[in-house]
Amino acid sequence: MAFHARHLLGIEPLSPMEITTILDLADRYVDLNRRTVKQSDTLAGMTQINMFFENSTRTQSSFEIAGKRLGADVMNMNMATSSVKKGETLIDTAMTLNAMHPDLLVVRHGASGAVNLLASKVNCAVLNAGDGRHEHPTQALLDALTIRRAKGRIDRLTIAICGDVAHSRVARSNLILLGKMGNNLRLIGPPTLMPSGFAELGATIIEDMREGLKGADVVMMLRLQKERMDGGFIPSMREYYHRYGLDAEKLAYAKPDAIVMHPGPMNRGVEIDGEIADDINRSVIQDQVEMGVAVRMACMDLLARNLRSERGRRIAESYV
Ligand code: NCD
Repeated sequence: MAFHARHLLGIEPLSPMEITTILDLADRYVDLNRRTVKQSDTLAGMTQINMFFENSTRTQSSFEIAGKRLGADVMNMNMATSSVKKGETLIDTAMTLNAMHPDLLVVRHGASGAVNLLASKVNCAVLNAGDGRHEHPTQALLDALTIRRAKGRIDRLTIAICGDVAHSRVARSNLILLGKMGNNLRLIGPPTLMPSGFAELGATIIEDMREGLKGADVVMMLRLQKERMDGGFIPSMREYYHRYGLDAEKLAYAKPDAIVMHPGPMNRGVEIDGEIADDINRSVIQDQVEMGVAVRMACMDLLARNLRSERGRRIAESYV
């Protein structure tokens, strides 16, 4: 099995082979999840703790469901009522949990790099469920699985990522993953929402949305992340929708069989028209949610295998 990592902190360190390994295993979990009896004992006896310092609907619930389907004991830390509110640092909280011997720690945090820091302090496998503007690896993997299943491949596609790129860890992880797999990437958005340095990751930056959507196989919309903005990024919501909201007229510039994606949560009427989002012939937004559970099962399964062999090795060494 081509996957030897201790943690899943980002897409950056993964090879195309490792990405393919995760997607292939996730395909098998999609089948399991469609059965009436979804239980497996892959993580039986293991403890998974979910620590979400930022709000989440899809990511947290799918990590919880994924862990439970694999037979782990899953605990959701309620960070709103935890001692973090009393001033305990991230590392102290992590060390406290570490002392309870969890096997998998799923962490979302508002600060870029916080999850990497935490991973360096604990003995278990850490999965990054989104850190600031940095990375959101399981989102990029579930997007890749959705694309691969819809298009039959995950290379040589023209993929347009549109909207608030500047604040988006989803865009960053997707750009890295889809670039590694050999796709033609375009970033579409106003200059105020386009970070510097993204062109170096191999994408073409296009300000005009119609121009950017021409001939695209995949149209990936991003949420306007108002909570990460301190004013002045866009003139008004109306103006933004007019120029960058995905509606039928703009989508007509993409290929006739182009798929529409959005990681959620969606702002209908801001970055996407509600009818497009609900159009089952174009939108794969609900498929993304389904793939999310399978991808998270695959990631935890692979990390648990590595954890078991690492621990097995350590025990064997202690006998020598
Ligand atoms: C994204 C996130 O939290 O980064 N959502 C998600 O995980 N599905 C995107 C967003 O918040 O806009």
